[in-house]
Amino acid sequence: MSVQAPHLFPDDFLWGAATAAYQIEGDHLKYGKTLSVVEKNMNKNYADPSIASGHYQYWEKDIALMKELGLKAYRFSISWPRILPNGRGKINQEGLDFYRNLINKLKEYEIEPIVTIYHFDLPQCLQEEYGGWSSRKVIDDFEAYCRVLFTYFDDVNYWLTINEQSNMFQLPYLMEFNPDIPLEKQKYEMNHIMTLAHAKAIHLCRTQLPNAKIGPALGIIPNYPASSKPEDILAARHADELRTYLFMDLYMKGEYRPFVWNYLVENGIEPTIEPEDMACIKSAKPDFIGINYYQSRVVKYIPEDADKKELKLNYDGKDDDTQYDNIPGLFEGMTNPFTQKTRWDWEIDPIGFRYILNELYDRYQIPLMITENGLGTLDELTEDKQVHDQERIDFLRDHIRQLQLAIKDGAEVWGYMPWSFIDLLSTSSGFRKRYGFVYIDRDDKNMKTLERIKKDSFVWYQKVIASNGSRL
Ligand code: BG6
Repeated sequence: MSVQAPHLFPDDFLWGAATAAYQIEGDHLKYGKTLSVVEKNMNKNYADPSIASGHYQYWEKDIALMKELGLKAYRFSISWPRILPNGRGKINQEGLDFYRNLINKLKEYEIEPIVTIYHFDLPQCLQEEYGGWSSRKVIDDFEAYCRVLFTYFDDVNYWLTINEQSNMFQLPYLMEFNPDIPLEKQKYEMNHIMTLAHAKAIHLCRTQLPNAKIGPALGIIPNYPASSKPEDILAARHADELRTYLFMDLYMKGEYRPFVWNYLVENGIEPTIEPEDMACIKSAKPDFIGINYYQSRVVKYIPEDADKKELKLNYDGKDDDTQYDNIPGLFEGMTNPFTQKTRWDWEIDPIGFRYILNELYDRYQIPLMITENGLGTLDELTEDKQVHDQERIDFLRDHIRQLQLAIKDGAEVWGYMPWSFIDLLSTSSGFRKRYGFVYIDRDDKNMKTLERIKKDSFVWYQKVIASNGSRL
């Protein structure tokens, strides 16, 4: 019997685009909003979040552009300190109104809102009050924040609980740590607490919005072995265990993987687990997993007595100066001689996209949604106000092709939300590194006009959506 494998994008495929609150809104200390941790820690040489992309002022223009682009979905995040300026308690009506109007307009234009509940922006006041994610007190506050969202935005069908929980292990500016407690120990404690908060959000959603779909968004970097040396093969597996499957197994199975748990115990960095924790996590199975995919990585084995290395990113996009981190005795990251790199040294690897989608779908058999994928690079505005971003078109085209192949391979994928809809404040590199389909006329130092200018990739993506992915 011959079976016809479905390999084109399904008719209801959610072609979208993504952003996050602190990266686009601006007005970060106005209209009742207070400071978040990620805003406080933003590199002072970059544009600050007081203006960002000016979306708080220009949101209607931005949604009109989304309609013109033909978006079927838009992933954005709600800022916790805009809704609850004290982290809990009194609700900021202006904040609620802002997101209410946004959602109403999206719905009017038949653009499905996909709402991220938490995208790195913990209210700074909670950090100061009890140490933020290091304290279990945050779980109740997060749940109360979710209750507000599920009550006022009960017409939202898709929710993302926490964006890139894995990244707090890599990127120091996303979190604040207590200098008196060993860093690694703190990270795994926080990870456990964050997983509980994520689980509580899912439980609450099941009660308040039983028809909604909810899941986390995880930043995934597949690890390839540097060679066919058995030690390197195992090193890649170990890197995946600690950087990907730790989180995936917690979300999907409610368990710590044995390899991971042994590693934590052997190093005295295992989190505190209270009696009901694992049952709470296990019973909070997501409906789908959001995947943020930008790059792959190569790792090799390094012996136990090697020097410890921390990840040092190339922040300015000028020099090839990324230093990959390691865990002596397990693995060390290195550059891939077979892939191109972005100016910021991120490995460009569309095939890795197909590979990891297959890998995740095979392991967990859960629908996937691509919640981020895109190219951060310099974009030049020409004198006649155009942006010829062919590099971005090539990047996205190659990734969409591989996405299509992954669907053909059997992965169930609900949608594709490239990063980002408009240019925004890159978390690591400010406004110089641009991701959008829409150029924002500003740079790190000058506010300029904040005019919205469609890039070539806008026109290209419009055709991709209109043809349901058949015209790439
Ligand atoms: C993801 C984040 O990690 O990567 C986004 O969810 C971020 O917030 C994106 O902007 C790209 O990273 P960066 O550091 O280039 O802004």
